[in-house]
Amino acid sequence: MAYATQTDTFSVEPTPYSTRLLQVTLTQETIQRFLKNIEIYPVQALEYKSFLRFRVAQILDKLCDHKLKPFLEKALGDRQTGALLVNPEGINRVEQGDEMVKIATAFVHLIGRSNFDLMTGQFYARWAVLNTDDSDSYLRKPNKPLELHNDGTFVNEVTDYVLMYKIDEQNMEGGDSQLLHLDDWEELDKFYNHHLAKRVIRWSAPPSKNVTSDVYHPVFEADSHANPVMLYIDQFAQPKDYEEGVYLADLGDSLESSKAKLSFPVPVGQFLLINNLFWLHGRDKFQAHPNLRRELMRQRGYFSFSTNPFSRYKDFKNF
Ligand SMILES: [Fe+2]
Repeated sequence: MAYATQTDTFSVEPTPYSTRLLQVTLTQETIQRFLKNIEIYPVQALEYKSFLRFRVAQILDKLCDHKLKPFLEKALGDRQTGALLVNPEGINRVEQGDEMVKIATAFVHLIGRSNFDLMTGQFYARWAVLNTDDSDSYLRKPNKPLELHNDGTFVNEVTDYVLMYKIDEQNMEGGDSQLLHLDDWEELDKFYNHHLAKRVIRWSAPPSKNVTSDVYHPVFEADSHANPVMLYIDQFAQPKDYEEGVYLADLGDSLESSKAKLSFPVPVGQFLLINNLFWLHGRDKFQAHPNLRRELMRQRGYFSFSTNPFSRYKDFKNF
């Protein structure tokens, strides 16, 4: 309960799903004051001027008596937690999508900076999942689970955090968010101590990702405290031979069958903010429905307070 916190502006408590995953609630009054204070900055202003993303972050932290920034740095860097489910109260309708972009931007620019998102050409991505889809990955496929993975596997950019915001959801059955903390994975030692754990593997993305060159890094690294960290995704690994292929296939099976996998719904208007180095994330499959609609936003980037051990491979850059 080290993180149970109650201030006038925000509160923190463990979620029912795991003591590692913390529920952060910002009061409606705080959010309304924040949005009022930054009314002069439309989303387009945040897109055009990078430094304004830090300005809105500063305004939010000030409203929270300068307690939000140190809390986020501590909780997201802490191996024991590193995952937040954030509820900015009163902002939960799809028409408030721009407000959600502003809130998310303020949060992550207290801890680091969001990378340029190659899917949209902005520092964030918003997209809808509909019943029919012709995309080339499982990101938008309704009837397939998005299996546990890390983000940033196939780009030359440091990806320390992932923020996933639920903007809208209609006629959705299933589709729970899934998370797995590396230290809860029963077979971490087996795969981390395997001789292929740190072999450099090739990763390449399908055309929709707008990434033109492959990247090379191993599945595992050790952080500055000698803890295992991971950079893995099933769909984009390109094993060079039988041995690598079987290792990766076994690893994928082991992750999916872990009993420690958390599975829970993220309500509309809330977002997950996780440490991408020791949490894997995914999404359960959902029922097809002719009027199904889900809209999501993501931001991914680096922490300003730590160094990602994968940055030693090739020319990973910070933005
Ligand atoms: Fe992802």
